[in-house]
Amino acid sequence: MKKILDLITEEVTKAFKEAGYEEKYGKVTLSNRPDLCEFQCNGAMAAAKQYKMAPFMIADAVAAKLCGHSMFSAADSVKPGFLNLKLREEYLAEYLNQMQKESRYGTEQAQHPQTIMIDYGGPNVAKPLHVGHLRSAVIGESIKRIGTYMGHHMIGDVHLGDWGLQMGLIITELKLRRPDLVYFDESFGGEYPKEAPFTISELEEIYPTASRKSKEDESYKEAAMQATFELQHGRAGYQALLSHILNVSVTDLKKNYEHLNVSFELWKGESDAQPFIPDMVDKMKKDGFAYISDGALVVDVKEETDTKEIPPCMILKSDGASLYNTTDLATIVWRMRDYHPDQIIYVVDKRQELYFTQVFRCARKTGLVKDDTKLTFIGFGTMNGKDGKPFKTREGGVMRLEKLVHDINEQMYQKIKDNQSMSEDEAQKTAEVVALSAIKYGDLSNQASKDYIFDIDRFTSFEGNTGPYILYTIVRMKSILNKYQESGKSASGKQILAAKSESEKGLMLELARFNGVMENAFQELAPHKVCSYIYDLANALNHFYHETKIMTEEDADIQAGYIKLLELTKGILETCIDVLGFSAPDRM
Ligand code: ARG
Repeated sequence: MKKILDLITEEVTKAFKEAGYEEKYGKVTLSNRPDLCEFQCNGAMAAAKQYKMAPFMIADAVAAKLCGHSMFSAADSVKPGFLNLKLREEYLAEYLNQMQKESRYGTEQAQHPQTIMIDYGGPNVAKPLHVGHLRSAVIGESIKRIGTYMGHHMIGDVHLGDWGLQMGLIITELKLRRPDLVYFDESFGGEYPKEAPFTISELEEIYPTASRKSKEDESYKEAAMQATFELQHGRAGYQALLSHILNVSVTDLKKNYEHLNVSFELWKGESDAQPFIPDMVDKMKKDGFAYISDGALVVDVKEETDTKEIPPCMILKSDGASLYNTTDLATIVWRMRDYHPDQIIYVVDKRQELYFTQVFRCARKTGLVKDDTKLTFIGFGTMNGKDGKPFKTREGGVMRLEKLVHDINEQMYQKIKDNQSMSEDEAQKTAEVVALSAIKYGDLSNQASKDYIFDIDRFTSFEGNTGPYILYTIVRMKSILNKYQESGKSASGKQILAAKSESEKGLMLELARFNGVMENAFQELAPHKVCSYIYDLANALNHFYHETKIMTEEDADIQAGYIKLLELTKGILETCIDVLGFSAPDRM
């Protein structure tokens, strides 16, 4: 279904032509003076230069062509040369009734669906998730859902940090504690046990202990490095341990992500990229891109137009070891080979921007990606505490994600328990659903690249620009729709009618924007656009609700029209929160 702005632009464009001016001046936008009009066209101002005329003359001529038009109830030229437009109520109702009938409320599916891989989450094995991983998960999941809604083939990859010193550290600590385990017996020839020799809680204790010891004790650190080396060079017992570590850790991570309503199509990790490194490096050398500098193997990635220094991309260290870069480049190799993506999107802390600039340039220059494969970096800002500093625990440590989620659930539970007579169980479940909206909306309503303050009190409030406010609005509609049904009435087969009040029209105008908002949110990979839209929509709904007697309306058709309007609003709000990655309870 065409977007309302496009439909209006078409008509205004025609009017420009009929009045004898070029069509290109007919572009219409939302009004920035809602007190005066709903839509506006500033084209006459630009046309005035070309035709060497007063802009007002042009606007006037165009307005005359739109007089009595079936789409507009007002098309006024105003000095110095604006065209102010208002939609006819009947036309708007017609548009909404059509939306109601169409799949996806009239959002056009992508004509050429793309395969888009999205790299988000990035948790590290054996280390607990912390708040930094929250942003990647929340933003990535939403972008993925927006893409899917628009008809693209989205593939989320968690890109586990499962390669490197942390593995050697765990092995070293385990060896100290349990030297008798078969994994450490180099002459062992049988099959290793299926059961892991540790639980997730042990693992989560072993890693920080080992990490602390390695900082205090040089020989411990060397042992860990040696273990890492042996693991990476195929020592069987260590590799068996690695798969145990991975299994235990991934099981736990999946559970954590599930609580956040976040999921991944692929559970690949840095270790999956390792087999692709040797051939990739050989080719880069053979093609003359990689050369030795100070002992290390590097590829130049600077470009003439650079305004700041972009250092070469390091491929191998002087001791031949691979790096984070090498792994990311080799990951591109298998992604291209197995999925042929049109685009790969990375949702990572913005402090890694320079790093990704190097990786992307290197990948393009050395031909790892096709010319038409887009590589996109979405860098997110830091989540800060109320003091404006990176979010910490009361003791000053890194905040674990589990703890944060737990705290918010608790706060929400108290709130819900206080104003509702719900069973313990329902209150608990409702609190979790609402708390998730608080966390996700609190994050997504900011432009991703900005730092933001994680303010639990504000985010959990039922008023203002918050997730709970949006849910509250949906719950309110659910309850009206239920009451209507319980009174034995039905709106099926009925239509949304032409608006009879300002507030009703305001709501209808917001609804009509839906497909345009989704399209734009996808183009800009910007979930915050969906947030600001649903905030406007929820406000418009609440305004309408307060000004209108819905339940006591005596005219059955008018009442059914209201119900239809509420159904559409509820459907659109639910669709929007679904792409943001949360859902609404039945009551709260
Ligand atoms: N594991 C990394 C971290 O915890 C994030 C990985 C980001 N993704 C990537 N392809 N490098 O910081």
